[in-house]
Amino acid sequence: MTRVRITYTSDMWWKTAVIYCLDVETFLDWNDDGIGDLAGLAQRLDYLADLGVTCVWLMPFFPTPDRDDGYDIIDFYGVDHRLGSVGDLVEVIRTAKDRGMRVIADLVVNHTSDQHPWFQSARSSPDSPFRDFYVWADEPPQDAQAEPVFPDQESSVWTYDEKAGQYYLHRFYKHQPDLNVSNPKVRDEVAKILGYWLQLGLSGFRVDAVPFFVETLGVQNADEAVPDPHLNLRHLRAFLSRRSGEAILLGEVNLPHADQLKFFGGPDGDELHMQFDFIGMQALYLSLARADARPLIKALQDRPRPSADVQWAGFVRNHDELTLDKLSDSERQEVFAAFGPEAEMQVYGRGLIRRLPPMLGGDPRRIRMVYSLLFCLPGTPVLFYGEEIGMGENLSAGSRLAVRTPMQWAAEENAGFSRASAAKLPGQIPTGAYGSEFVNVASQQTDPDSLLNFITLLTRTYRHCPELGWGSFEVLSQPHRAVLAHRCTWDDGSLVAVHNLGRDGVAVPLDLGELEPGTTLVDLLEGWSITPDDNGKCELTLEGYGYSWLRVNTPTTRRLR
Ligand code: NOJ
Ligand code: CA
Repeated sequence: MTRVRITYTSDMWWKTAVIYCLDVETFLDWNDDGIGDLAGLAQRLDYLADLGVTCVWLMPFFPTPDRDDGYDIIDFYGVDHRLGSVGDLVEVIRTAKDRGMRVIADLVVNHTSDQHPWFQSARSSPDSPFRDFYVWADEPPQDAQAEPVFPDQESSVWTYDEKAGQYYLHRFYKHQPDLNVSNPKVRDEVAKILGYWLQLGLSGFRVDAVPFFVETLGVQNADEAVPDPHLNLRHLRAFLSRRSGEAILLGEVNLPHADQLKFFGGPDGDELHMQFDFIGMQALYLSLARADARPLIKALQDRPRPSADVQWAGFVRNHDELTLDKLSDSERQEVFAAFGPEAEMQVYGRGLIRRLPPMLGGDPRRIRMVYSLLFCLPGTPVLFYGEEIGMGENLSAGSRLAVRTPMQWAAEENAGFSRASAAKLPGQIPTGAYGSEFVNVASQQTDPDSLLNFITLLTRTYRHCPELGWGSFEVLSQPHRAVLAHRCTWDDGSLVAVHNLGRDGVAVPLDLGELEPGTTLVDLLEGWSITPDDNGKCELTLEGYGYSWLRVNTPTTRRLR
């Protein structure tokens, strides 16, 4: 029997990582100017390590006019002065590594800010050396089917620039002109940016808007200039891996699974190492709304499993709207009705701007069941800051800002985030049931039954179950629509997990097939065990919204339970 292949698995650390996304600006303000900063983050790295985080994903920290929360960059080589300096960032990376955590950051190279010197030069003259860094047209192409990503803000992906005397392409806001990836000079600049940050210690990147970065919309003679747009991504990946063997590209690709497959590259995975599973996430919400696991099961079963060299990243919420764009209109309406019926909770006609706990009516059993699922579905789990303590949203902040409020550290003024006056904060902390007097880190740290301690248990247990990151996945048949029972197996380890999405208790018959004599099923979260009969059959009783992670413990298994 083979044992865990330690060398190989530690090279591919990201297959079993616990990733935590945060925005420095909203995490902790250390110099009391009201804005979160790198010095504040440095103070909380031990908190993240205790939580079981192994990889911190920093949202954009670069110099920015901040008209899209930092996704509008004016200098790819700097740190915005409000957050600190490049030196402060290096200290964060260094300290994180000391605590066993890697740091990755957003790579936003589909576009720049219109204030970026490249665009300022490009628009000033057709002869500018940077003119071809962007995509220009005398008239917006008529055949363009392209829709702007923010339809309530922009009516077209083409905007006329008086100074340039031409239209320029922008998939997102008009202040974010798209870079022209058919230009080899742009590709060289992108590689240089990667190389720079790897040299300073980053372990990779969350790559923003990958399909738009790869596409050649509006590029003249695109077929000749870029016969295979994915080649650019492959070259970038090769460059990254030459510079750093541990570095990853975790891509934002919100496309149907079959289309996502291309972004992993060839059979050995030579493009993105990981992609977020937007389809699985949307199916999860439909399943929750219906108390019917089948949409989620279908999404998981249909999800390609290309090779062991790539990975899916699961998430429940991120910093954007909870997009439901890949559901049918009627499915989306079902989720809206269940979790965000008011117009002020919805955005762009496709998404919700709420965090999970308020959507689930604050029901702790249901919230825990969802996070239990996040951690024990196959793949790498990604948390968004504040999820571990059950933070709510601030609807009055509006749109995507509703979930980007300051981290709630304590039941203090400004939630312990800053000692500046509240008016100087980057967002208003929610009041009421999700205010900091009820939801904060300090009180949950000392409460053994808190969500924070539960999520810590999940991260620890996930780390003890490499079959979740590495293994095969199978859905176990059982009779309840509300239940998902699945099994992940890898090397000598096998884990069975059962989740009840319904409010009523159920008795779930499990058939595990042939088992080694003496096998028991040990619940990893609570410690009890059951023994299947000689045919591998047993029955598991779950309460409403109950869940169980069962280690298949054979007499020869050496796994820590
Ligand atoms: C995707 C990011 O997640 C989002 O926050 C941003 O506005 C767009 N890309 C544009 O960079
Ligand atoms: Ca500050």
